[in-house]
Amino acid sequence: MRLQGKTALVTGAAGGIGQAIVNTLLAEGAQVAAVDVSADALAVYSQQDPEQLLRIAADVTQYQQVEEAVRSAARYFGRLDIMINNAGIGVAKPLLEHDPATDFDRITQVNQHGVYFGILAAGRQFSAQASGGVILNTSSVYAQMAAEMTFSYNVSKAAVDMMTKCAALELAPLGIRVCAIAPGRVDTPMLRQYEALGLWDHIRKEQMRQTFTQPDEIARVVAFLVSDDANCINGVTVSASDGFENFKYPLLG
Ligand SMILES: NC(=O)c1ccc[n+]([C@@H]2O[C@H](COP(=O)([O-])OP(=O)(O)OC[C@H]3O[C@@H](n4cnc5c(N)ncnc54)[C@H](O)[C@@H]3O)[C@@H](O)[C@H]2O)c1
Repeated sequence: MRLQGKTALVTGAAGGIGQAIVNTLLAEGAQVAAVDVSADALAVYSQQDPEQLLRIAADVTQYQQVEEAVRSAARYFGRLDIMINNAGIGVAKPLLEHDPATDFDRITQVNQHGVYFGILAAGRQFSAQASGGVILNTSSVYAQMAAEMTFSYNVSKAAVDMMTKCAALELAPLGIRVCAIAPGRVDTPMLRQYEALGLWDHIRKEQMRQTFTQPDEIARVVAFLVSDDANCINGVTVSASDGFENFKYPLLG
């Protein structure tokens, strides 16, 4: 078990990728604080051993709530070692149909400010503990790729990649590593909106394996990246996309 004795906080813990991360970290021996905006959604963890899992309702768009979640987790487990800024939202909408009052800001608040607040709160906690730490941000292949209907999302994820680099540089002297993971298309409630748009089969065929990445496949890469096995990986966004960003839609097959 790679994370025995470690404590971690995961945001977006009630979502598709978040649940897989929480369960994988628990299986790797970590104690985990599961954070999500909805206390009801965190009921999925009601059967977990309270010595291993703490549920915290917090909105990542509010710095005070993120800081309080970090402090609560550190108080409860005695220390915090790993912060996973995973909460995110995405809405598929053509650019020219945007309401400029809402369509850019909401995604920016959750995906960009949420990660910024998580880096800041965890960085301060790790600094106060003087124990080092690891911060892992959930980015996306769309941080570096243009796509239709996801203008605000792609911009927010590009910011996540740069926050990862800048934070890694500035926090390295404190023994804090900062990395990101870039999933491609993962079968979660977020991706299922493409089913409602009638695009599910179309986007599935664009996948190298002709199938979507499963949340637990992402979670296993996350578990590696936050473990000491990845100590020499810092300041980068690691692609876990089935190669999605490297290949055009195949002409054959
Ligand atoms: N599913 C994909 O194909 C895919 C691909 C690349 C990246 N990602 C990223 O992975 C992460 C997880 O996405 P997912 O696919 O599991 O989506 P999901 O919709 O299943 O889960 C997202 C979770 O974030 C929570 N959340 C939303 N706003 C919040 C807030 N303000 N405060 C706290 N929690 C909040 C939601 O309640 C939900 O539980 C996101 O950052 C997403 O951008 C997903």
